[in-house]
Amino acid sequence: MFARNCWYVAAEAAEVGQAPLGRLILGEAVVLYRTSQGRAVALEDRCCHKRAPLHRGRVTGDCIACGYHGFEFDPSGACVRVPGLDQVPAHTRVRSYPLVERYRYLWIWMGPAAEADPETIPDFHTNHDPAWAATGTRLPVAADYLLMVENLLDLSHVGFIHAGTIGSDDTGASIRWDSTAGRVVGVRASTDIDTPPHNRKQGFGPRCDQTKVMTFLPASHVQIDITTVERPGEGAAGEPRTMHIVLLNSMTPETATSCHYFWSSTRDFAIADESITRFFHEMTVRAFEEDRVMIEAQQRIISLAPDAPTVTVAGDLGGVQARRLVNRLIARG
Ligand code: FES
Ligand SMILES: [Fe+2]
Repeated sequence: MFARNCWYVAAEAAEVGQAPLGRLILGEAVVLYRTSQGRAVALEDRCCHKRAPLHRGRVTGDCIACGYHGFEFDPSGACVRVPGLDQVPAHTRVRSYPLVERYRYLWIWMGPAAEADPETIPDFHTNHDPAWAATGTRLPVAADYLLMVENLLDLSHVGFIHAGTIGSDDTGASIRWDSTAGRVVGVRASTDIDTPPHNRKQGFGPRCDQTKVMTFLPASHVQIDITTVERPGEGAAGEPRTMHIVLLNSMTPETATSCHYFWSSTRDFAIADESITRFFHEMTVRAFEEDRVMIEAQQRIISLAPDAPTVTVAGDLGGVQARRLVNRLIARG
């Protein structure tokens, strides 16, 4: 069961061109393509003739033609041509989904089209703002998307799973949670911790202070703002340096036990330095691969005994509140 009345990331904008792309979203087969004008379109990926997937067809102008018997559908999903017939039978159509291109992503609305309000798309402007550098990709994960949401809201795992990549043990961090206004916000503050390896690479001294603000935006987005500050007297001479990174994470459910994990690491310093962009990309790929391996293993164990008891501790509060918000959305229909 998924919350439907919300925006999900269907694809990175650059993934979709004139060749149709088939993607499973919330258990529904969707085909994405661009019209000759470059407008991105999302249709049901099931031809209403004999249920062939439309992504095996081809784009003709603004329409997509089924690869099986050639029915053509326009961006609204209406069938506009049936080869061999002068007239298209009434009500021959497939479903079309509201799709908005914004912040280098294509955002899809899986609920009733009339309720889709682009104003409610999360503010991911750092992914395309010229004052920021961004790098990211899509990671397929064979696990319930909410396991990844929990992972991102409980960063106590960083010192364990990511010890060699982005990790530093901050299990002594203070955490405050707030779940008003339809979102969950956690502030995780650590003082005088080992500087994470990637900050050391940027010349930071061995100890630092760090604040991570995790914001869960239902149903599937977690933004993490990370501010790292050198300890006074450490690192290079002069004022302690500060590094600001915003991690954008969108986990779009594919099925109940798999998801498309879209991530982007964005920063507001050294934005023109391609080597730093590459460094962040490779580091994040390595770190999230560590998460993927653990979470897929966790999913396999959960699937064996879904009702096995678990223990909830203080650090889990964000995940608990996130699930509560999602359940509320599902109940609202
Ligand atoms: S299945 Fe698509 S045209 Fe026949
Ligand atoms: Fe992680």
